[in-house]
Amino acid sequence: MCGIVGVIGKSAKEIVLNGLTNLEYRGYDSAGIYLNDLQGHQYLTKTVGRINNLKAKMLPDEEGLVGIGHTRWATHGKPTVNNAHPQFDQIKRFYMVHNGVIENYQELKEKYLKGVELQSNTDTEILVQLVSQIVQKKQVDPFTALKAALAEVRGSYAIILIDNLKPDHLFIAKNKSPLMLGLGKGFNLVASDSLSVLDQTKEFIDLQDGEVGDITKNHIHIEKLTGEKVTPKSYQLKIDPSQVSKGPYDFYMLKEICEQPNVLRRLTQLYLDENGNPQVDQQITSVLAQADHLYIFAAGTSYHAGLVGKLLFEHFAQIPTEVDFASEAGYHFPMLSQKPVFIFLSQSGETADSRVVLQEAIKRKIPSLTLTNVPNSTLAREASYAMALEAGPEIAVASTKAYTAQLAVEAVLAKAVGMKLQHKEAHDFDLRHELAIAAEGIEQIISAKAKIEQVANTYLLPSRNAFYIGRGIDYPLALEAALKLKEVSYIQTEGFAAAELKHGTISLIEQKTPVIALVNDPVTADLLRGNIQEVLARGANVIAIASEQLAHENDDVILPTVNYYLTPLISVVVAQLLAYYASKNKGLDVDKPRNLAKSVTVE
Ligand code: F6R
Repeated sequence: MCGIVGVIGKSAKEIVLNGLTNLEYRGYDSAGIYLNDLQGHQYLTKTVGRINNLKAKMLPDEEGLVGIGHTRWATHGKPTVNNAHPQFDQIKRFYMVHNGVIENYQELKEKYLKGVELQSNTDTEILVQLVSQIVQKKQVDPFTALKAALAEVRGSYAIILIDNLKPDHLFIAKNKSPLMLGLGKGFNLVASDSLSVLDQTKEFIDLQDGEVGDITKNHIHIEKLTGEKVTPKSYQLKIDPSQVSKGPYDFYMLKEICEQPNVLRRLTQLYLDENGNPQVDQQITSVLAQADHLYIFAAGTSYHAGLVGKLLFEHFAQIPTEVDFASEAGYHFPMLSQKPVFIFLSQSGETADSRVVLQEAIKRKIPSLTLTNVPNSTLAREASYAMALEAGPEIAVASTKAYTAQLAVEAVLAKAVGMKLQHKEAHDFDLRHELAIAAEGIEQIISAKAKIEQVANTYLLPSRNAFYIGRGIDYPLALEAALKLKEVSYIQTEGFAAAELKHGTISLIEQKTPVIALVNDPVTADLLRGNIQEVLARGANVIAIASEQLAHENDDVILPTVNYYLTPLISVVVAQLLAYYASKNKGLDVDKPRNLAKSVTVE
């Protein structure tokens, strides 16, 4: 959460503002920028709301050869101008942007900052004031002071600090929140995410936890907080700029929905050979095949992908699988089997809740595998093994193509492990062929999107609430579909195991309440039709989404036939499009729903 960017050695204003715009997915309730022209002029601008507000507030002649900026997702203190970053100290010498949470900020405040008049409610101000106190009291340089202050800190941080008496340096630090350096000729950059400064450089260094740095335009010095010098390795980021542009689409969310057929095709190429045999690292397959129980940990949409994964692993690999919210498991660890293997699902690979579980797994020496869309992310680096989702950068806050990629990679793994264990179901599962059919199915759905828009306009737009119901594999899908609709359209939506409605929640059904019924499970299709009748009898507007062989004449969306275990790949696209159009046609910012951020790096 929160995005930070810094530049030294080049006209900073535009680079920082562009970088912040690209980082807005990390939080967008307030923003700020500090510029210093190295000739005695400095400019600090902060606003509530989006980067556009910040741009509008800045004067044309405000420029700097060094600059730092921040886009915020509030943790400590409301989104106000005072709470926006950069935060500064009492004497306005130090300016700091920070992503993360200083957990012991109250303690630090009481211990070191008695008598200091604070301007904000943020934990970041405590840290910058502390650095300032150390510099003044101990007469040390700012880099030494930053390290001394961080030695007192518990929590997560990615930090850039500027001292206006030494403005040709950026002081940086990282622990648990992402931070990278972008290397230029005669300039250097610091950012939460390399994609935000991709127009400036393709050469990057990923900072590691516990590292601090002193950066000038021509020099990079990195060391560990313990004092040990670090020789960082840079790498070239190979990315096609079209992957991060919106192209002809109004919103990234629609672009990413439409990219899903190609994501499935890419994963097929990567993980299945021409005969359909899984191409998965043998070590990963062996470790999973030896497990007596799999434990999947994730949050939000990735958790929902885990629920589908449970069905895949139990059916094709026949290994009992448990799925837990990482946020709960971190502090209330599940009871484990004799030979557990942990699987982490995470688009960003940075989700703090999942990281807590992974740290515990490392301590207990439990083998772990991360499936992530960001191969060099924290969860990928720290797990025993990692597999790439290859969905390409997902920029809309609401996750779409990473979800389908997670399902596809889980299917590959379930097949690979099931084949290793010689289960017939896995051998007979022609995944290469099935994924090709699913990709075509998604294309058909996308080409019928006008019909889905009409359904959204007719039934969802006028409503304040809605339900998704499903049985079997449609239940986890109902949860994901409901999350998608509520997060982007603000229509309060719940996903239900269809039969559960009558055990209480059916009391919420009123005249015209939209109930979206998913009908893909042949075993329970008749029962589900009964559940539809129950809500119809109470006045609901039912929208039926059914696979071809289970469809009734008046169903609203008929889904192309795919293997039962891959039906979520198709149905979810209808749900994504319903959510997209409900949000867009309400005039909302589809890509950046209120109160949210994409990469959730706080617990
Ligand atoms: C919803 C959404 C979130 C994420 C969740 C986990 O559309 O995107 O629910 O799925 O925050 O994030 P990752 O997958 O990055 O761990």
